Amino acid sequence: MIPLPAECELVELQIRGDDRGSLIAIENGSQIPFDVKRVYYIFGTTAGTSRGFHAHHDLRQFAICVAGSCVMTLDDGVQRYQVRLDRPDLGLQIGSPIWREMSEFSPDCVLLVLADAPYQDSDYIRDYADFQQIARKSAGDEA
Ligand code: TYD
Repeated sequence: MIPLPAECELVELQIRGDDRGSLIAIENGSQIPFDVKRVYYIFGTTAGTSRGFHAHHDLRQFAICVAGSCVMTLDDGVQRYQVRLDRPDLGLQIGSPIWREMSEFSPDCVLLVLADAPYQDSDYIRDYADFQQIARKSAGDEA
């Protein structure tokens, strides 16, 4: 098993395959543990680009590399974890607060992200030192 922060989980998605090929369906209440309020996807990433470099105060996301591959680095404020997303039937749930960086995008990578809230700039934590403070407080609250 790939080690991940407690706020994150890898989920194998059910493939509905037949001799025509494969299909994966995701609905609220099925395959993912939240109601989807937003969908975005990242593609055509320039070679060598890394992106992300932020956390969220309160957001749940579910990332699926529906084509190609990329590497997701997850940081819970104590430790960094890396997972390569390279299968359209593998979803990564990311809770909060988790610092994330995305890198090693293949030229054909399409990274689909489902989120449980609309885009809100005020939910972003873009400063790593701020994130560490927030993560420490969040871990303390849970202890
Ligand atoms: P950005 O947050 O820089 O992407 P990442 O951190 O994942 O590398 O987003 C790029 C631009 O797209 C920025 O202007 C904000 C905008 N954006 C939206 O309008 N809605 C969204 O859901 C997201 C994720 C970004």
